[in-house]
Amino acid sequence: MTAALTTDPRQAALTLRQGGLVAFGTETVYGLGANAFDVQAVARVFEAKGRPTFDPLIVHVSSREMLSQVVAEVPPVAEQLINEFWPGPLTLVLPKRDFVPDLVTAGLPTVGVRMPAQPLALEMIEAAGVPVAAPSANPFGRVSPTTAEHVIQSLGDRIDMVLDCGPCEVGLESTIVSHVHGDAPTVLRLGGLTVEEIEATIGPVPLLTAQQHEEHLPMAAPGSLARHYAPRKPLTILREHEVPPPGSDVGVLTLMALCSEASFGAVEILSQTGSLTEAAARFFGALRRLDAAPVSRLYAHSFPDHGLGRALNDRLTRAAAGAPANESNLT
Ligand code: TXA
Ligand code: MG
Repeated sequence: MTAALTTDPRQAALTLRQGGLVAFGTETVYGLGANAFDVQAVARVFEAKGRPTFDPLIVHVSSREMLSQVVAEVPPVAEQLINEFWPGPLTLVLPKRDFVPDLVTAGLPTVGVRMPAQPLALEMIEAAGVPVAAPSANPFGRVSPTTAEHVIQSLGDRIDMVLDCGPCEVGLESTIVSHVHGDAPTVLRLGGLTVEEIEATIGPVPLLTAQQHEEHLPMAAPGSLARHYAPRKPLTILREHEVPPPGSDVGVLTLMALCSEASFGAVEILSQTGSLTEAAARFFGALRRLDAAPVSRLYAHSFPDHGLGRALNDRLTRAAAGAPANESNLT
């Protein structure tokens, strides 16, 4: 059975209340939602995605009251971030309340929470009256979905409903900031809210390195597995202005126009004006189109290393690591 498609948040809310799985659009990417307090429904989320249960889910709330059902304590700095950036592409990892199921948090004493800035998603959560646990709505390790169509294509036969919220405006997952007990706030995952914006509000914030992730957070690594967001074709990352090897079997992902477009089988230009905001919104969709295009090898230019460019480079690096090896690169 294929998932029912709806644009009615109340219908989606009803399905959630009945224990169903509902994929829904947020401003970042589509999420695969279940009632966070319904362990069986949450278990089905892991099953549908093929996601290992050591990888915790983000809980989505629609109000401060709902936040207090999930989180035991909101430290002052987290409070500041919430006031400044919610609803929006920021997930906070905070101490959890006991009755948030261990399956949601992979047994961690903390929970990742966010309030999405998507009106239909907020209406759905509000109408459901329960927090909604939702990872990105893609099979584990693969490219994240930014339209209802993407979700139907990859998970349509494993879930109950898709709330079509239109294309995602931000296009990259939320930035995750952990702030637990005495520890200083730390960025666990780069994403749709830039580090510059966060630092303008609360001052310098360290980014957990990949190595620290492995040493300290083997269970909690947020989308931080080295291989993730992977296309099915080999993907090679080029420096910003490096010229890809020409060929009709070559697909190119690039920020702005190339002078030699005709030498490639497919070219995806993310923003004619070089806007990183526009590039982020189009990134995952473009990666999917290249994966489906009649080419066999993909090349992508890295992005300027600031603002959303940092999160884009992060996704690109993991996508390349997760993709099959490029035979022509082997010597
Ligand atoms: O924008 C987003 O964040 C999207 C939309 C649907 O909200 N969701 C999303 O979920 O990207 P997912 O599951 O693909 O990535 C969530 C990441 C996981 O990799 C997980 O490791 C991390 O968040 N995470 C969740 N709870 C955590 C916790 N308590 N401590 C550390 N990391 C946590
Ligand atoms: Mg994901």
